[in-house]
Amino acid sequence: MESTRNRLIHILNKNEGYQSGQELSDQLGISRTAVWKHMKELEKDGYEIEAVQRKGYRIVSSPDKISENTIQWGLKTKWMAGQLHHFEEVSSTQEIAHQLAKQGKPHGTVVIADQQLSGKGRMERPWDSPKGKGIWMSMLLRPKLPPIQAPQLTLLTATVLAEVIEQKTGLKPQIKWPNDILIQHKKMAGILTEMQAEQDQIQYVVIGTGLNINQKAEDIAQEIHYKATSLLMETQEEWGIQDFIQSLLVQFEETYDRYIEEGFQHVKQKWETYGYKIGEEVEITTLRKSWKATLLGIEPDGALRARDREGNEEKLYSAEIHWGEGGYHA
Ligand code: BTN
Repeated sequence: MESTRNRLIHILNKNEGYQSGQELSDQLGISRTAVWKHMKELEKDGYEIEAVQRKGYRIVSSPDKISENTIQWGLKTKWMAGQLHHFEEVSSTQEIAHQLAKQGKPHGTVVIADQQLSGKGRMERPWDSPKGKGIWMSMLLRPKLPPIQAPQLTLLTATVLAEVIEQKTGLKPQIKWPNDILIQHKKMAGILTEMQAEQDQIQYVVIGTGLNINQKAEDIAQEIHYKATSLLMETQEEWGIQDFIQSLLVQFEETYDRYIEEGFQHVKQKWETYGYKIGEEVEITTLRKSWKATLLGIEPDGALRARDREGNEEKLYSAEIHWGEGGYHA
């Protein structure tokens, strides 16, 4: 059962304008004095509340510290983050999202943590997730799609990240296939998509996004300085994490709804405008071989199309891309 306090914040968040003490007291089943006491408690927690005689109360601003309430404050989504679970510290938001999925939580459920103790990257790599420095978030989706389309969701997420980063910072991020977000050739964000599926239908997908936002150089391990970065390091500015999360959620919902309605074409186009090294020659490595090829773009199913030096074209579903002198790769 949700606490009175959370219900109070929820009502104030969802309604624009003032809510009278009487309305709040009726909706919450508590006295007007109790409503007033709750407001005082909220102020102690950093909420700025405006109380106007004969009009009522409204939240003017919410505290910097991330919480379920502050993220939902003013969040204009229809279904995304309808359920939001925030933790100060978890092993991995992916793990929690899988547990919630198995408990039957709905499409759009979001898990966010200030810090992850064993954040997971792709290919079983660890993902460093220091406290309060980035966005460590997993989204639970229940698309009615065949499993073969799941890679499209990863590419879709990459375009959402790139667009939000560009809108907010003015930087021009690039997406290294399939889903690394690079700024100035260094990785600033990554996506991990995990799926539970039956033969012809996805049961659920958990999309994890890790964005390095406010790490300083010393917060990033020395041995990966050459390939990893954060927004702060690129802009010399600190960024509001909450505001970023909200923009990501709104943009994700919009892009996803359009994808379900119209298909992959607009995502593909968008992806290619951010695509890293598209039209250029790189070194490609798969489990079987390594060769030089020009990246041509992505296929409607999310595969990467590349052309080797002999002119043969190939669709790749799993590969690493390298470039530069020493075969450097992010
Ligand atoms: C990668 O580029 O290798 C993917 C990184 C994904 C990291 C995110 S952070 C939130 C979510 N929880 C995890 O443990 N991993 C993903």
